[in-house]
Formats: sequence, structure tokens, C-alpha cells
Amino acid sequence: MITTCLFPAAGYGTRFLPATKAMPKEMLPVMTKPLIQYGVEEAIEAGCDVMAVITGRGKRAITDHFDISYELEHQIKGSSKEGLLKDIRSIIEQCTFTYTRQNEMKGLGDAIYKGKVLVGDDKPFAVILADDLCVNPEGDGVLKQMVELYEKYRCCIVATMEVPMEEVHKYGVIEGNKIEDNIYMVSNMVEKPEVDKAPTNLAVIGRYILTPEIFNVIKETKPGKNGELQITDALCAQAKKGMVIAYRFKGKRFDCGSVDGFVEATNYFYKESQG
Ligand code: UTP
Repeated sequence: MITTCLFPAAGYGTRFLPATKAMPKEMLPVMTKPLIQYGVEEAIEAGCDVMAVITGRGKRAITDHFDISYELEHQIKGSSKEGLLKDIRSIIEQCTFTYTRQNEMKGLGDAIYKGKVLVGDDKPFAVILADDLCVNPEGDGVLKQMVELYEKYRCCIVATMEVPMEEVHKYGVIEGNKIEDNIYMVSNMVEKPEVDKAPTNLAVIGRYILTPEIFNVIKETKPGKNGELQITDALCAQAKKGMVIAYRFKGKRFDCGSVDGFVEATNYFYKESQG
């Protein structure tokens, strides 16, 4: 049903300067794998085979990563190192990668709108922000959990988690009524609220299922917080029509857009690799 996953990856990643001066944030490796590859693997597990990436200037390394490197492969052919490219080669074989550029950083809503040309305007699609690295050691990945939920509810879905009240200012926050365990019908959404203006501590993280109507809604949405076109504002308009649910996902999420979260993820994956 949902076969396309959109990866908005046009941001500057200023919190990682100078590392991100000439290298995309999405290519920062946790252990030996770039962030965006974790996201692509999660999308494949969820049943997607078209990866639509919103890039920008200085992001060419992403395109190269998901392509064959003949010279390198020729060099290491037959050596013990050949196996290190097995996973990425299998990803390239399984998926189609499409790209378009967001020329100006006008916000996540604008980046998603730019994806219309890649995902089409007649079917639902998934969105992964690769700097939110998600794992579920106990079972299905977060996007797969959401795709299954889509089969039942057929509306927009946002992944949420509880955060300490003093951190709500970093997130889009939802308000809603619980309709099932871990599932809420969203009635309101606020982008990066101050503590006293936050309706709840249920924060939206970088996993979404969106229905194609979202493109018309984004088109009607005015720039919001920081003068950017916020996906939160577009989703809030849909929520007021009862068309958005929030899902408290099972698993862990690392905020790899911040240095602390990135280090935490690295420690976690290192520990896992040591058994
Ligand atoms: P962030 O605000 O976390 O990313 O956007 P950033 O701007 O790259 O990071 P900092 O704050 O400067 O360190 C969340 C996601 O949305 C994408 C980013 O690439 C990131 O994956 N995004 C954001 C876009 O693609 N375009 C935009 O205009 C804004």
C-alpha cells in the first residue's frame, strides 16, 4: 500500500558545523553506517521500495552513496573487505532512488511540498527524517508499525513520544483524545511551544504517514515559527478535521540532529555490536 518514503534532507545541519560544512548531516556515520542508510533500511522493512530524497546544495554524497562505485568495488573484489558493501549493494538492488532539490531552506513543510513531484499526488506516502534514528530491539521498526496502523485508520499518522516538559520547546506537540492504547485522535498541534503553552508533553518525532491531500493543505499554509513553512501547521489544519492520529511508537529514538543524541546513538550501537 505505502511504497514510497520521502526523506527531507535539505537542511544545513548547523549544529554539526564544521563537520557539515561540505558534508551532508545525513551522511554522518553511526558506527560505519550513515544516518540516512538506517532510515532507508527502516523504510524497506516497512515495505517501501521507492526512496524519494529532498536534497540541496552540497548533498551530492547522498546520491553517490546510493549508487554503485565501480572503481571501489573493482579494487576490493575478492578481498575480505568485499562483504562490507553487501548491505548497501542489496539496498541499491531493491530500491529506486529519486531526487529533487529544495533550493531555499523554507522549512520542513516546504521540503515535503517539493516532494510532490517525486511521490505523486494520488497515494499516501511515508516520511522519515534521517536525523531521528529509530530502533526497536523488541520487534518491528517504527515505520512498519505505522504502516500497519495506516491500513486500519487511512489518515495521516504522526509518531510521538513523551518528553520531559522542559524539552517540549524543541518539538511539535500534540493534543488529542486517546482512542486506543498508544493511539490518539489529534485535535491540535503546536510547533515548539514554551512550557506554559504546551498542551501535552507528547512530542512528534521524524516519522510520518501522509495522505496526498497534505499537498493542498501545505499550499494554503502560511509560514509559521521562524518564518518557515511548518509541517506541524499543515497537519494541525488536517487534525481540526479529524484526519490525523498520533501513535506512541514502540522502540527507541535518538536525536542524531544534536551532538548529545548522536553520541548516545553511537554508544548504543557500539554496545549492541559487542553483544
Ligand atoms: P532540522 O531543523 O532538525 O535540521 O530539520 P537542520 O536545519 O538541518 O539542522 P540544524 O538545526 O541546522 O542543526 C529537520 C529535518 O528536516 C529537513 C532537515 O534536513 C532535517 O532532516 N529540512 C528542514 C529540510 O529538508 N528543509 C528545510 O527547509 C528544513
